[in-house]
Amino acid sequence: MLNTAIKAARRAATVINRAAFDVDRIAITEKQHNDFVTDVDQAAEQAIVETLLKAYPDHAILAEESGASANMNDESEFAWIIDPIDGTTNFMHGYPNYCVSIALQQRGIITQAVIYDPVRNDLYTASKGAGAFLNEKRIRVTKHDRLTNTLLAAGHGAGPRALDEYLRMYQVMAERCQGIRSAGSAALELANVAAGRSDGFFEKGLKPWDMAAGSLLVTEAGGICGEFSGESKYLNKGDIIAASPKVFGQMITLLSPFA
Ligand code: IPD
Repeated sequence: MLNTAIKAARRAATVINRAAFDVDRIAITEKQHNDFVTDVDQAAEQAIVETLLKAYPDHAILAEESGASANMNDESEFAWIIDPIDGTTNFMHGYPNYCVSIALQQRGIITQAVIYDPVRNDLYTASKGAGAFLNEKRIRVTKHDRLTNTLLAAGHGAGPRALDEYLRMYQVMAERCQGIRSAGSAALELANVAAGRSDGFFEKGLKPWDMAAGSLLVTEAGGICGEFSGESKYLNKGDIIAASPKVFGQMITLLSPFA
């Protein structure tokens, strides 16, 4: 199943790379304020769904642009959670930070994850219990144990979000770490945490397809994902803190007032 997901992600990347040469020709629709879909998102999603359903016709689908298939529910034995381009706004502008994200959920648990970054040709994969990998090399979260030594990432999301709350969270965290980056792709930020390129990530108001694959990468790389309260239903809640274990605890202490 992981190999099928990799195949699907690479097909989507072919569609994305072709369009990335001439971003002025991309057809853009605003779903809600500052939340966009392009014809490329739709074509990439179609390539992914076709690839997955050809191999597994009975599997359920939850995809950002086309929604949930009729057989998708919490009890679905196999459900694919798909974001054809995470970082659509970046993609539209030619800002080189976006990815394809595909996760498999088995009876409510994410068991396979693929994130493909077509700009850097970075392929992140994870299978539950078998570790996380970047281009087939094992990856692990950082070992930093004090927040003062960390580089964090955060996002304030698209659409009518609580910008004021984000700015307050940003201030609380920025005063206590070495820096906070906000590069517009939650999935890639989670992959960065898994690969030890950053120590932690926080964002509220996300959707399951922004987090599903990245959260398995983080946990398989030895990190922790949770809601701001520390609870574990972040995929439903949409609010996530992901970090190496010691940093996670310190982030929860500071961010739980925003839960
Ligand atoms: C978006 C990205 C972004 C996050 C937004 C998401 P999309 O996903 O993950 O980093 O801040 O909330 O909607 O729309 O580009 O797939």
